[in-house]
Amino acid sequence: MKIPPVKGTRDFYPPDMAVRNWLIDGWKKVSVRNGFEEYDGPIFEYLKMFQIKSGDEIVEQLFSFKDRGGRDLAIRPEITPTLARMVNQQINSLPKPIKWFSVPRLCRAERPQKGRLREFFQWNIDIIGVDDVLADAEVIFCALDYLRDVGLTPDDIVVKISSRKLLAAVLKEIGVPKESLDSLYALLDKKNKLPPETFEKMLNEQLPDSEMAGKIRAFMGLETISQIEEMFGRQEAFDEIVTLMDWLNRMGVGDYCKFDPSVVRGLAYYTGIVFEIYDKASELRAIGGGGRFDDLLKQFGGTDIPATGFGIGDCVLSILLEEKGLLKTRPQQLDYFVACVDESFRDAVIEVTMRLRSNCFASNFSYKAVKLSKQLKQASDQNAQKCIIIGEEFKDNQLLVKDMVAGEQKTIEVDKFFAELKSLV
Ligand code: HAM
Repeated sequence: MKIPPVKGTRDFYPPDMAVRNWLIDGWKKVSVRNGFEEYDGPIFEYLKMFQIKSGDEIVEQLFSFKDRGGRDLAIRPEITPTLARMVNQQINSLPKPIKWFSVPRLCRAERPQKGRLREFFQWNIDIIGVDDVLADAEVIFCALDYLRDVGLTPDDIVVKISSRKLLAAVLKEIGVPKESLDSLYALLDKKNKLPPETFEKMLNEQLPDSEMAGKIRAFMGLETISQIEEMFGRQEAFDEIVTLMDWLNRMGVGDYCKFDPSVVRGLAYYTGIVFEIYDKASELRAIGGGGRFDDLLKQFGGTDIPATGFGIGDCVLSILLEEKGLLKTRPQQLDYFVACVDESFRDAVIEVTMRLRSNCFASNFSYKAVKLSKQLKQASDQNAQKCIIIGEEFKDNQLLVKDMVAGEQKTIEVDKFFAELKSLV
C-alpha cells in the first residue's frame, strides 16, 4: 500500500532542505543583526488559547484534538498567542524592551492553494514594551532589511500600511456600532480575496444600512490622508501614520512603503498600525503582515504592555524569489571524503575518517572499496570540498589530498596533516 503525503504538506528532500535552510538562515541573520533574540514554544497548546483573540478565521482553521486525559489541544496556527503567554509568565524578570524572534513550523487547515499550505514556516519578529511608533518602524524595517538583502527592490514588493485606530475612528464616524467592529474587520480584510459580488453580499448582510456600506467602500478606495481628511475630518491616527512614514524614510526603506487604508488584517488582536507586504504585481497572496497588538498580553491575563510585530511565511516568499531568479540554496557540504586505491587500505580509510570526525571535520567514506573513480564520484555527489586518497604512500605515512574545487592535489605526511587541521580548529 502506497501512502501519499497529506494534502497541503511538503516533503523536504535534501535539495529542498538546502533552499529552506538558506531562507531560514537569512531570517535568523537579519533578526540577530537587528538586535532580536530567538525563542520558541511548544508545537501544540490548549485550544482555548487560540480562541481568545485570534479571530474566527484562524479558529476555523485549527487542527485540534483531545489528548488522552480529555484536554482540548490545538496545533499552533501562529506563534503570537504563545509569545504573549510566555512573556506574561516571566514579565517581571524579563529585561525590557523585549525584542524576540522565532521561526516556528505552523499548521492551518486551509484549502491548499498557491502560496497557502496546511503546514509552513513563519518568521516572527516582535517588540514588547515600547509604545513609540519607532518600534513599528523598526519591525517594518527588519522585514525590509531581509527582503532587500535577498535582492527584492521597490519594483518587486510593497509594504501597504494603515491603522486599526484610523479604521475604528472612521467606522465610528460612519456610525458602525462598536460591537460590530471585530466581525467587520474580518470581512473587510477579505475584500481583495473574495469575488466582488460575494464581498458585497456579505457586507450588505453585516451592514444593512446601504449608506454606511457605501462610505466604507469609499474609505477603502482612498489613497491619501488628505482625501480621508476631506471625507471624514481630521483623525488623531493621522499623526502616527505620518511619523511612521517619516521614520521609514529616515531608515532608508521609505520607497518600499505606501499608505493604503484597505489594509485591515484578518486577526482580531491588532490595535494600531497594521501592514501587509505584497508582490508589486499583486499576483500573489500576502508575503507577510503584522502590526501593533497592545491589548493582547493583558487579554491573556497579564499586565498592560504594548507590543508590535510581524510574520512572514516561507511559501509566497519562495514563489516570488523563484520567479525573480533570486531563490538560492545552502547545500550541505562535506569537508573530506576519504577514498582508497584498493581494499587493502580499508582500515586506514576508517582510521583517517574517525580522526577527521573527532577533529570536527565533516567526513565520509565509501562502504565498498569500489574503483577510485566511483569513490571520487561519490565525493563530488556529497559536495566534498577535499578528498583524501589513501594508497601506497600511506605505508610511508603519507596522504594524498585532492582539492575538489581547485582540482589540485598534494602529498602530505599524516601527522603534519592532522597537526595543521588541529591548528585550524
Ligand atoms: P498572518 O497574516 O496570519 O499573521 O500570517 C502572516 C504570514 O504567514 C502570511 O502573510 C503568509 O505569508 C504566512 N501564512 C499564513 N498562513 C499561511 C498558510 N496557510 N500557508 C503558508 N503561509 C501562510 C500572523 O500569523 C501574525 N501572528 C503575525 C504577527 C506576529 N503579528 C504580530 N506579530
